[in-house]
Amino acid sequence: MVGGPVSGVDIFRLDGKAAVIAGGGGAIGSAIAVGLAAAGAQVAVVGRSVDSLEATAARIAASGGTCAVLPADVTDGDAAEEVVAQAANRFGRLDILVNAVGGGAGKVLFSAEEYPKDAWDWIFELNVRSTLLPTQAAAKAMIAGGRGGRVLNISSVRASLGINAGYSAYVAAKGAISSLTRQWATEWAKHGINVNAISPTFVDTPQVAMLLDDPEFKAGIVSRIPLGRVGGTDDLIGPAIFFCSDASAFVTGQVLGIDGGLTATQ
Ligand SMILES: NC(=O)c1ccc[n+]([C@@H]2O[C@H](COP(=O)([O-])OP(=O)(O)OC[C@H]3O[C@@H](n4cnc5c(N)ncnc54)[C@H](O)[C@@H]3O)[C@@H](O)[C@H]2O)c1
Repeated sequence: MVGGPVSGVDIFRLDGKAAVIAGGGGAIGSAIAVGLAAAGAQVAVVGRSVDSLEATAARIAASGGTCAVLPADVTDGDAAEEVVAQAANRFGRLDILVNAVGGGAGKVLFSAEEYPKDAWDWIFELNVRSTLLPTQAAAKAMIAGGRGGRVLNISSVRASLGINAGYSAYVAAKGAISSLTRQWATEWAKHGINVNAISPTFVDTPQVAMLLDDPEFKAGIVSRIPLGRVGGTDDLIGPAIFFCSDASAFVTGQVLGIDGGLTATQ
């Protein structure tokens, strides 16, 4: 089980733990996969793009870590079950699931009164279904394993803050992720499974490049962030290690803003 008293910085170590990173080939998922591996976890990266998964695995291998590449579409329930089982078999256990599949907001910007149903469904599939199905598979494996575990979701400041940029479906999907984080934490506490989420503001990644490449838009965003910049993928690594390690043994159902202070101010 992830948990139990240990001391000093060892509480942040993940040696002997096995982690599945859904979306481990993406900008944020790959950074978290590399970070968890550096903290000692054996990592399996799951996603649709084999090339990007291989790139993450190569970075981890170059640092002497262990990374399995498991291609799958995690919006397919059978595929999600299968890759989670493959990872658990490969490592002999499953301790951590990170859900880093999602996004898409910038590709479907529509005014709220005209938001199209197909774009709405696509955003919910990419963000909510892609989180639900791996989590159900991992929770069943963790419950069967009897050692508890950790689930880390990726929400967004958009779960709490509106934005004048056609984001209706995305804000609703991220609201669902934050709500599910609290619900799963409540239901699975009895199994020793802690469920938390990180909630970034804009992170400098290809997904949001189109928006951040607009100097006026970026200046508007940055002007509202007390620390005066958007996030980088490395900003998410420390919080991810915290939530996946014994350091957060008594923390569950929480959504942590990784936002340079954006949600602390007005
Ligand atoms: N980038 C940001 O500014 C930002 C800010 C807040 C929250 N987030 C959230 O962080 C998460 C990751 O974002 P990112 O910028 O790393 O995106 P990304 O597109 O770089 O990574 C997502 C990965 O998921 C994979 N994927 C997509 N659909 C899949 C499916 N059905 N099955 C398996 N794999 C699939 C993609 O191939 C990609 O590798 C998302 O949930 C996003 O909403 C991003």
